Amino acid sequence: MTRQLITSALPYINGIKHLGNMVGSMLPADVYSRYLRARGHEVLYICATDEHGTPAELAAKEAGLPVAEYCAQQHDVQKAIYEGFELSFDYFGRSSSPQNREITQTIARQLQASGFIEERAIRQVYSVEDARFLPDRYIVGTCPHCGYDKARGDQCENCTRVLDPTDLIDPRSAISGSSELEVRETKHLFLLQSKLADEVEGWVDEHGKDWPVLASSIARKWLTEGLHDRAITRDLEWGVPVPADTWPELAAEGKVFYVWFDAPIEYIGATNEWADAAPDGESRDWRSWWYEADDTVRYTQFMGKDNVPFHSVMFPATQLGTRDAWKKVDFLKPFNWLNYYGGKFSTSQQRGIFTDAALEILPADYWRYFLMANAPESDDTNFTWELFASSVNKDLADTLGNFVNRVLSFSRKRFGDEVPAGRAAGEAEQKLGTEIAELLAEYEGQLEALQFRKAAQALRALWSAGNSYLETKAPWLEAKTDLDGAALTLRTAMNLIHLYAVVSAPFIPASSAAMRSAFALAGDTRGWVEPEQASSLDLVPAGTPFTVPPVLFAKITEDDLEAYRTRFGGAEADPS
Ligand code: MF3
Ligand code: ZN
Repeated sequence: MTRQLITSALPYINGIKHLGNMVGSMLPADVYSRYLRARGHEVLYICATDEHGTPAELAAKEAGLPVAEYCAQQHDVQKAIYEGFELSFDYFGRSSSPQNREITQTIARQLQASGFIEERAIRQVYSVEDARFLPDRYIVGTCPHCGYDKARGDQCENCTRVLDPTDLIDPRSAISGSSELEVRETKHLFLLQSKLADEVEGWVDEHGKDWPVLASSIARKWLTEGLHDRAITRDLEWGVPVPADTWPELAAEGKVFYVWFDAPIEYIGATNEWADAAPDGESRDWRSWWYEADDTVRYTQFMGKDNVPFHSVMFPATQLGTRDAWKKVDFLKPFNWLNYYGGKFSTSQQRGIFTDAALEILPADYWRYFLMANAPESDDTNFTWELFASSVNKDLADTLGNFVNRVLSFSRKRFGDEVPAGRAAGEAEQKLGTEIAELLAEYEGQLEALQFRKAAQALRALWSAGNSYLETKAPWLEAKTDLDGAALTLRTAMNLIHLYAVVSAPFIPASSAAMRSAFALAGDTRGWVEPEQASSLDLVPAGTPFTVPPVLFAKITEDDLEAYRTRFGGAEADPS
């Protein structure tokens, strides 16, 4: 079996993430990881908080905390939410970890040794009052084109023109508001991506051919526009320090690496954190996953489309430039945007649904199922409360939950607490078995292909097949004239429930566990059911004791909907 390395784009430390972030990276990576584990693969699913950079510094300042403390706190907050979503990370690390510092510095030294880093002097805006250099977007002033007085140094939000900080009229610091700004010369490290351009293009040609078009087209576009050298250091307090052994002068000036340099390296850093966190008696080898990893490791990355350039072009360029054997991505799974009533989810405007609030109102499985069934794969998709409620009510409450409760309660009523025997399987069961095997094969195929919407569709079809069978056989009528027939129907339906529990687990792990534990089935540890096995619908034998679990999914009522719309803002929200 292949060893599967899986990473999801690292969520920024500042601010709770919204459902759009969740569906575009962590959640699908989790569904895929769970599926592969169930199929017997060795999986390492790694994620972490992306902690460095100006936004984190400013958020800490706003919270009145030292940045290290702020990040430690926010890391724990995010981690708890992801546990609530049942994300099965093998490790959830921190890009500010000592492990990442070390690997980031190692990689920078390797790039230097192979001639892909150069020191260059640049002129940058310095704020005397803030005692720091200001990134372009933290300089504000009046737009020379439209007169908007809060234009940022990189772009005017009003007329959308791209600006240079020196274009601004009456420029001032966005941090303190001070206009005591100077242009100072300062040295930075540049990664010579232009020297690597041909090589990266060759690499993308070879490795990107099987990626989804969304990923390969973005990679191509970046390569066509030309890979330029870029500054990989910044004048900030909070970041991975430039190592003094290699760049004594820059280190003395307190330079740190740019957040986009150390963030992807944290995939490796977090794997080191995972290895260092091994419990006594367990040894974990991070190198076998990342360094001279052989062909038995398949590396899959999950991310929103804005992250594709960094993962398909820039990080591979960094890795190639080291001239060392770092494992590079094999398959890149990108996502479009999930919108909220046609507008953007927005962290800065607090528009849409945030992950903490989502879990306050409903359990994780409701969100996991809805989000994956409507994942923005081929296009942007839209969240509305109406769509969410109809999908939950129809698919989860009616098709799945109701089936489970109906079958188990009725069987208990008529036949007691054990799976009844009844007659041997007949034509209807054979037909059902064939249909189930086909749908299961389709479901597996879509999961293997990382087509989550289609996988969810196949899963829904599996659930529906049980309903159709039950409606046709109508055991509540059969029981009046043909007890053996009714028992066969119920035993078959209970086998479906067990099958659903096993194969739905990647999408709805908690409900699947509840369904599975309804049966006191000795030695029931199987990870998966093969289609051929599934077709005989006899893994739960007659005589197996069972209990009736509490209602699996509560329906969302009109009153609930009203309350959600009021709390979160609905159609009236400004789709800007
Ligand atoms: N924090 C970034 C974002 O949310 C993603 C970083 S992915 C990494 O857009 F690979 F760079 F870590
Ligand atoms: Zn303007």
